[in-house]
Amino acid sequence: MGCIPLPGLSKHLSSSQTCVALAQRLALRYPHTIMSDHPSGLTPAAISELRARATTAAQNSHSPYSHFRVGAALLLTVGDSTEQKIVTGCNVENASYRLTTCAEQSAIATAVGLYGPQIKLHAVAIANLNHAASMPCGACRQTILEFSTPDTWVFYPAENDTPAEATLTDLLPAAFRLHQD
Ligand code: THU
Repeated sequence: MGCIPLPGLSKHLSSSQTCVALAQRLALRYPHTIMSDHPSGLTPAAISELRARATTAAQNSHSPYSHFRVGAALLLTVGDSTEQKIVTGCNVENASYRLTTCAEQSAIATAVGLYGPQIKLHAVAIANLNHAASMPCGACRQTILEFSTPDTWVFYPAENDTPAEATLTDLLPAAFRLHQD
């Protein structure tokens, strides 16, 4: 079971047994951050909240050309801190179409601007206001990878507003990585 570290509690999470015990004990006190059966370590409530934050962010979308209104919400930590933060973004289109910024990239640029390059993305939720399926595009997958962890999760809508999910590794196998000597 994967465990998202809890603020101030990481020193207690030395074994999976301790992890489960803490989860049970603290479930009522920390419903949005406690570990769960989901392999991301997130509770259904935390995942729902992240999806809802993405939907809210989509309301700020500037998309007069595609009319496809997208929002993204990042669940992240910074450096060695276990404090979780949520940062959101939306797609911002341009009359020169290729200058469009996707919601995921917008959120990540905002997060780096706020917290610096040590951000670690534990989960990314994507939503749109068009009731359409929207997985992150290839460029966004590569952008998420830049700040990902070994098990970053992506929550997105499939057809008919059905919630769907995948790990970034599943969405971007054999990803490009720059190795410099
Ligand atoms: N879009 C995103 O915001 N994220 C993606 O992962 C794919 C596409 C936006 C870009 C553009 O404004 C609109 O969706 C239609 O492509």
